[in-house]
Amino acid sequence: MPATVVLGAQWGDEGKGRVVDWMTQQADVVARYAGGDNAGHTVIYGEQELSLHLVPSGILYPEKLCLMGGGMVVNPESLLAEIDELEEQGIDVSPRHLKLGETAHLIFACHRALDGAQEQGRGAQAIGTTRRGIGPTYTDKAARVGIRAGAMRDLDAFAEAVRALLHSKNRWLTQIYGQAPVDVEANVAAYCAYAERLAPYLDNVALRINQALEAGQQVLCEGAQGTLLDIDHGTYPYVTSSNPTVGGALTGLGFGPRYVQRVVGVTKAYTTRVGRGPFPTKLENAVGQRIRDVGHEYGTTTGRARDCGWLDAVALRYAVQINGFTHLALTKLDVLSGLEHLKVAVAYDYRGTRMAHFPPDASVLADCASQYERFPGWAEDIRAIRARRDLPQAAQDYLAWLEDFVGVPVMLIGVGPEREEAIIEAPDWRAW
Ligand code: GDP
Ligand code: IMO
Ligand code: MG
Repeated sequence: MPATVVLGAQWGDEGKGRVVDWMTQQADVVARYAGGDNAGHTVIYGEQELSLHLVPSGILYPEKLCLMGGGMVVNPESLLAEIDELEEQGIDVSPRHLKLGETAHLIFACHRALDGAQEQGRGAQAIGTTRRGIGPTYTDKAARVGIRAGAMRDLDAFAEAVRALLHSKNRWLTQIYGQAPVDVEANVAAYCAYAERLAPYLDNVALRINQALEAGQQVLCEGAQGTLLDIDHGTYPYVTSSNPTVGGALTGLGFGPRYVQRVVGVTKAYTTRVGRGPFPTKLENAVGQRIRDVGHEYGTTTGRARDCGWLDAVALRYAVQINGFTHLALTKLDVLSGLEHLKVAVAYDYRGTRMAHFPPDASVLADCASQYERFPGWAEDIRAIRARRDLPQAAQDYLAWLEDFVGVPVMLIGVGPEREEAIIEAPDWRAW
């Protein structure tokens, strides 16, 4: 009956995909619970490198059920493109293996156009969204005018609903934002064709999850984005429009908290952020550039260069508090090899006052300067290391200090992007 939630502890791109891929070995069901194709989750196994946007990161295992939950927003065109791409790589993405929750909301061309128009309208205050239509689609969900995936079952009614939605959004696009309208009939035809292909994937995901949990199966819940991008707990307004935090797993999939046995927070050994918003440990110098180069810190979804900086232990402790992490997975430790020293933020200086807690107000955070603890670095390449005791002493000390500071054990340490390039405390995570 246990559920395990795996989610980002920072501003996204922590390495959730690779952690979920590894953990899927001992799971029965893998379920994405929030977000849409703003996400880009990388899974590398042997010759195969997958960039997953909507499909859960357990897809490489043909015998495990992959679910896309009702908390997601799904662009049918993107989903079909992803399915086609995976099929070309010989991966089973048939409706037997992959299911789409009927209560997930659909993203249409008008939502993408509105996302772009709104960003343009914000000018210097732009959020730096992925322009995938995420915000406008969650807006429609909250306004109770969205179209859900289950509507694709009845093509005539679906066509009518899509037509009405596009007409209504075109008024916004043209009259409020001065943009070109989307072509209504061309889109209706296209979305009906997508609906025909996607209808076999539709499923009652909440029911399926509850049946799996009651049958004693291991359910792995895969988050997208990260805690600091959460609409409620993140650096609002520089956030996404969903709840990547632990509560989002329960509402996005539809099961109760008594099933949650583990909450695994994924964090990098440093910090990155793509898009705008405050980032107290950001490095705008050669060290930041080095981390970007060595860590290949360019977005999986948009290709944008990610800002890089030191680990922020104040923010990590906040993520522990919001999500109740039971374990941490720390990725990209290898990227720090060769740095003379490392720094970690342990408090902030806010207008002359020491602040030990992460402020919920982004304008306060924007005024915070990091107070750092300094650690010696290590020169060795650590990619081949598979036991913690074999790491350079400085790396072991860095990890031990962090565990003590945030009060959560690190169970998986990434020392390279490949599935096996990790130091794992107990090879069967069910024993964690
Ligand atoms: P996600 O969105 O959280 O799934 O993360 P992304 O896939 O967007 O970004 C993480 C990037 O780091 C990917 O390119 C991974 O292949 C890579 N990666 C993950 N873990 C490690 C690690 O331990 N070391 C290195 N060098 N790269 C890693
Ligand atoms: P994964 O799952 C990193 C960021 C965008 C922008 C803000 C809002 O790969 O970790 P949106 O398009 O969601 O309205 O953009 O959120 N963002 C991400 N940053 N990783 C992601 O996903 C992200 N998804 C959204 O850059 O700052
Ligand atoms: Mg990503």
